[in-house]
Amino acid sequence: MQPLIVPSVLPADFSRLGDEVAELCDAGVDRIQWDVMDGVFVPNLTFGPDVIAACRPHSTVGFEAHLMVVNPDELLGRYVDAGCELVIVHAEACTHLHRTLARIRQLGARSGVSLNPHTPAEVVEHVLDETDMVLAMTVNPGFGGQKYIAAVEPKVAKIRRMIDESGLDIELEVDGGITDKTIAGAAAAGADVFISGSWMYAYPDGKAAAVKQLRAIAFENAPNGEAAR
Ligand code: DX5
Repeated sequence: MQPLIVPSVLPADFSRLGDEVAELCDAGVDRIQWDVMDGVFVPNLTFGPDVIAACRPHSTVGFEAHLMVVNPDELLGRYVDAGCELVIVHAEACTHLHRTLARIRQLGARSGVSLNPHTPAEVVEHVLDETDMVLAMTVNPGFGGQKYIAAVEPKVAKIRRMIDESGLDIELEVDGGITDKTIAGAAAAGADVFISGSWMYAYPDGKAAAVKQLRAIAFENAPNGEAAR
């Protein structure tokens, strides 16, 4: 299976988000990620569900909501109703992570759990049966344009082993500092979904060329020469 390339819209022109979403779809992205930030869990504030709902008609690909918020349980339904087919919560923000992930599925979306760079892979060991995607953050969340933390790669490899041993169909996503220079290490460690924001938006040959470039490098560097899944 081809690795998935998923842009973050954090670097987009917020005065024309609908057009920006359409342009990302034209560029051949696999999904679009909305970095939802509450100004408490991370020191930044971004998209409410109504903004995402307004952009939904402009997209031909799925939406995922990355909830970097302190109270995800209270917001799950709002982001599913806004049109997010995948809702990602932070393990660090969930007292009852297993129940929160199950709730996302009950609402009709796929569930994702994100781990900050310091959070060990073992945190997801007992919730894999309720998870459709594990996101290993390769920056400390809150802002785009940060430096990739290569020290997370051994954790990505451990999560890859856990997923493979489980026999479950679970995506392994990385997010933060993903460029043509860093994606190879993340792919080799076992990631199969890649979030890119600032590098993709700054790519001189445009977003379609950036997507192709990232997809090719990820495919070439996946374990056993093909995508990890
Ligand atoms: C951090 C954000 C960023 C964003 C991608 O909270 O989640 O990682 O999606 O940003 P770049 O690709 O610019 O590092």
